[in-house]
Amino acid sequence: MVGPLGRPSEVENFGTACVVGGGVGAAIAYPTAVALKQAGNRVISILGGRTRDLVILEDEIRATSDALHVTTDDGSYGEKGLVTDKLRSLIEGGEGIDYVLAIGPIPMMRAVAETTRPHGIKTVVSLNSVMVDGTGMCGGCRVSVDGKSQFACVDGPEFDAHRVDFQNLAHRNAMYREMESRALREFLDHPEKDLALVPGHECRLLAPADGAKA
Ligand code: FES
Repeated sequence: MVGPLGRPSEVENFGTACVVGGGVGAAIAYPTAVALKQAGNRVISILGGRTRDLVILEDEIRATSDALHVTTDDGSYGEKGLVTDKLRSLIEGGEGIDYVLAIGPIPMMRAVAETTRPHGIKTVVSLNSVMVDGTGMCGGCRVSVDGKSQFACVDGPEFDAHRVDFQNLAHRNAMYREMESRALREFLDHPEKDLALVPGHECRLLAPADGAKA
């Protein structure tokens, strides 16, 4: 295990900071939300997920936020809609947002960037490009920022959302999709092959839904 890797999050008193966490992105956004609050910001958080079960860390993020809004795509919890619907309504409602941190799926971060761009609100995203070594040597995590190549593992992972080439990022992140799908299928068909590599390990993912051991 190595770390910490990359550059630390930029935390200062921006005024009103809006933290947007999509799905598991909430786990990455949470510590920065805490730090933004401790730095004196008014923190407004927006958590989103496709459905209720994919909204995580709600209590923890509520505890560090002046206001928390939850959205789900299917309306099973919180407000029905996307995090960007809520962000737009907050901006247009005059919340006076000075800074936005968005962490989640690439389409979500891209949509947040386009929501704040016309308003000139400083917006930062944490990029989840494919990483291998994490030290700037393999080039796997290369992203294009302002037309220049940057490595998310050493130059990021946080970048100015208005300067990131999200199309390039999405394309690069999909490069191994077929191989990833094949590996998952092979694992699900023969989990014993991988599990045999770790003597005594019992994978909780393979446990029956009732919690009984496989
Ligand atoms: Fe290899 Fe960033 S993960 S260069």
